[in-house]
Amino acid sequence: MSIHLTFTGCIAGTDVAQSVCTFSVSTGWGKGMAGSRLFIGLVAVCGWGLAHAQGAVQQIEAHQHLGVASCASGVCHGATQPFKDSNVWQNEYSVWSDSDPHAKAYQTLLSNDSKRIARNLGLPNAATAKICLDCHSDNVPAAQRGEKFLITDGVGCEACHGGSEEWISSHTDRSVAHADNVAKGMYPTSDPVARAQLCLSCHMGTSDRMITHKIMGAGHPRLAFELDTFTWLNPHYEIDEDYVSRKGEFNGARAWAIGQGVAARNLLDVLTNDKAGSHGIFPELVLFDCHACHRVMSGKRWGPRPGTGLGPGVVRLNDANLVMFRHVLALVDPAASDRLAGQIRALHQATTNSRSATNQAANELKRSIDASLQTVAAYNFSEASLGTILGSIQRDADRGEFRDFAAAEQAAMAAQSVIVAFDTAGQLDEDRAKRLTGLVDRLYATVEQEDNYQMSNFTGALRNLTASAR
Ligand code: HEC
Ligand code: HEC
Ligand code: HEC
Ligand code: HEC
Repeated sequence: MSIHLTFTGCIAGTDVAQSVCTFSVSTGWGKGMAGSRLFIGLVAVCGWGLAHAQGAVQQIEAHQHLGVASCASGVCHGATQPFKDSNVWQNEYSVWSDSDPHAKAYQTLLSNDSKRIARNLGLPNAATAKICLDCHSDNVPAAQRGEKFLITDGVGCEACHGGSEEWISSHTDRSVAHADNVAKGMYPTSDPVARAQLCLSCHMGTSDRMITHKIMGAGHPRLAFELDTFTWLNPHYEIDEDYVSRKGEFNGARAWAIGQGVAARNLLDVLTNDKAGSHGIFPELVLFDCHACHRVMSGKRWGPRPGTGLGPGVVRLNDANLVMFRHVLALVDPAASDRLAGQIRALHQATTNSRSATNQAANELKRSIDASLQTVAAYNFSEASLGTILGSIQRDADRGEFRDFAAAEQAAMAAQSVIVAFDTAGQLDEDRAKRLTGLVDRLYATVEQEDNYQMSNFTGALRNLTASAR
């Protein structure tokens, strides 16, 4: 894994209003970096009936995309240095084009690796194949492309911020509220649910846009995503006082928590989709734990995972996000967490039974997740949350639940996200922050090489971390 961050100073937590219906006001803990003591979180709920990543794609495509060049002028977002007296940096284009992998996503399709993937799949050219362009560029339909639009710009501004046709002029007017721009098609990136759906539409895939096992088999890298970690890898934004006043506070622990719920929901959507979820007599293998199949036969490493109730020789669903969301709920709503544990186990059992039993179990889980996302979004994560979440993960580790690499990898990202979130919110003193960061690094080291993953190393490193975090 290459996604390790050492944190210098971004912040945690937030939300915004999605245009139509908003609810819920939450008061914040904390002395965030901006020093504010109170924040208002407006969270969209009505859209959650369709809490799937494909919905994000539809929103992004709803208006014409004018092209990166339309955002890149020196007085707009193309400055070379951040502006002093502006709400936003205004050098976002430079940051994006110099250091953001999204700017190179189209170029990637011209690489030798891509040529090999395309050849293996029988595609004439990766750079013209819809399946590749959907995630490696801003592949909106021809009618939605303005004059300056270039497919070669890769994952450009409007691939995340939405087609700017109707808001390009209003969004520079300070008297126009963010919510008004959102109503005109600007994507609500600051809402954690909406953001998770957006990122996951490419970083996990949807039933219409998938990295299938076939594409992996052709040589595509495995996708691993965690919302908070990835949000801060190449940012062209920061959370300052001005941001908080416009959009509300940001909380990294909450972003992590919501990201897990939305990813789990998305997994279930693909699993239950007739077209994407199965092929011939096989289910879509990408939804399963890779190492259930890809392992050396002489290893004799099998052992029970109580959370699944499955015996030896069974291919397990990759339940990493479901498991993490259960740990979120262990903090936010313990009764719901216990219910979820039962439902996850029932889903694993159902996969050994039939497709219809699997769909039924998955649909029950979807309902539980949808009901809980609202509670999670309104929850005030405090320092005590840190111990509770890590404690819950630790209890799983003690029971041998982290036999599967993917869950261990998510747990490492979880530990990092919650610790960084509290650190940046000023809730850990310097020594403690330093000690914990060192222990997170050691935990990461145990999931660095997935082919050599050893549960005992992971469990040991986690134990040291949780003991220190208490
Ligand atoms: C339209 C598809 C798309 C969307 C939407 C998208 N990404 Fe990406 N992202 C990609 C692709 C493709 C790459 C790989 C680019 C390359 O190397 O060619 C990538 C790479 C990244 C990387 C670098 C990963 C690494 O291993 O270094 C980060 C971080 C990232 N994305 C974060 C995000 C976040 C956060 C969001 C949501 C706010 C998001 N992405 C939304 C397609 C997308
Ligand atoms: C569901 C979205 C999705 C689809 C479809 C997709 N990719 Fe990707 N691809 C990604 C993301 C996201 C990454 C970055 C992974 C990371 O670093 O976390 C990536 C990474 C890659 C990389 C590695 C880039 C690097 O910098 O190492 C190559 C090569 C690649 N993709 C080629 C392709 C080709 C060729 C196709 C079409 C057959 C394709 N991709 C289809 C999302 C997608
Ligand atoms: C991979 C997705 C992605 C891409 C591509 C992208 N952005 Fe962003 N952008 C985000 C996210 C996520 C945020 C954080 C937004 C928030 O919290 O409201 C953000 C924030 C911003 C902000 C600050 C907003 C604020 O209220 O402080 C500006 C300005 C911005 N982006 C402009 C651009 C421009 C210009 C481009 C193209 C050069 C671009 N972005 C490309 C995802 C993206
Ligand atoms: C149900 C078992 C199963 C699961 C689960 C599974 N695979 Fe596979 N995988 C296979 C089989 C079978 C092949 C084909 C081997 C062959 O062609 O000889 C394969 C081939 C591959 C290949 C090509 C290997 C090569 O030598 O070229 C890659 C890469 C791959 N899988 C990655 C993954 C990833 C990543 C995951 C998890 C997201 C995964 N697989 C999950 C069974 C599985």
